[in-house]
Amino acid sequence: MEARGQAERSVYGGHGQLMAELAADALAERFSHLTLEVTDLDASEAWYRDVIGADLVGRGLTAEPREHSVLQMNTGQLIILVHNPSFKRATRAAVHHGFMVTYEQYLRALERLPRLGYSIGDTRQQFRARGEYSIDVQDPDGHRFQIQCYGPESSRAILPEVGVVDCGPADRYRVGDVKLFKEGNFFLVRLAEGFLAMTRWCCHMNGLVVYQREHWRFWCPYHSATYDLRGNATGGVPNLNALRLNPISFSEAGHVLVDTDRVQERACFDSSQAVPPPASLADSRS
Ligand code: FES
Repeated sequence: MEARGQAERSVYGGHGQLMAELAADALAERFSHLTLEVTDLDASEAWYRDVIGADLVGRGLTAEPREHSVLQMNTGQLIILVHNPSFKRATRAAVHHGFMVTYEQYLRALERLPRLGYSIGDTRQQFRARGEYSIDVQDPDGHRFQIQCYGPESSRAILPEVGVVDCGPADRYRVGDVKLFKEGNFFLVRLAEGFLAMTRWCCHMNGLVVYQREHWRFWCPYHSATYDLRGNATGGVPNLNALRLNPISFSEAGHVLVDTDRVQERACFDSSQAVPPPASLADSRS
């Protein structure tokens, strides 16, 4: 079965993502302008030009009575810097603005910002999925900006490099059993139709899914995608493929062997994906 095309898939699933069914009723498509108070217009204009890449449109162009600068991003969105010599930014660390950039732009920022004398911070290390990158930079008045991007590996299955994993005798597993093989990064699931070995990499952006026994489902802690026992995506993030599969075979001694070097994409479960044990090993308990 063919996996869903990349174009159909949700690109961004970070905080604030709208579910597809809600997006149609959304009040706004994007913001038109961001207004910030700054103590030094010259210094801030330079920062938003050098760091954010915005073009200076001019000064005093809007109805704002205070002295101000208008800058424009390549999306057409405006940044309006309003001069307030006594401005003091609130010190709450959580208040910030985020910009999404391409991976290439992100790599350039990593190289360019220190060279221009701007320091880079990182406050999201423990929240990022595999392939998700972000840095923090502060403008001259301490407004914090997060520069985020998704690298090419963000939605690609990552091989654990442990080869074939021996999961033990097939007849040890009962229908409904789910066993995690941490070193191989997969779950072995025993269905009535046979076995599935499902990689733990979430099909959204490579968070590692966990099994929630009480809900009979897999759950990704990054943006809350959920998958049923067959690996079908069931909620949290729209339009995801089913969890990827590792091929299964059986040893002569009747052990389940999972090849973690190979990964099969799939849109959703169908019974031909489940691998039954050889007839001679069929578990009478199933
Ligand atoms: S990485 Fe986004 S839901 Fe799993």
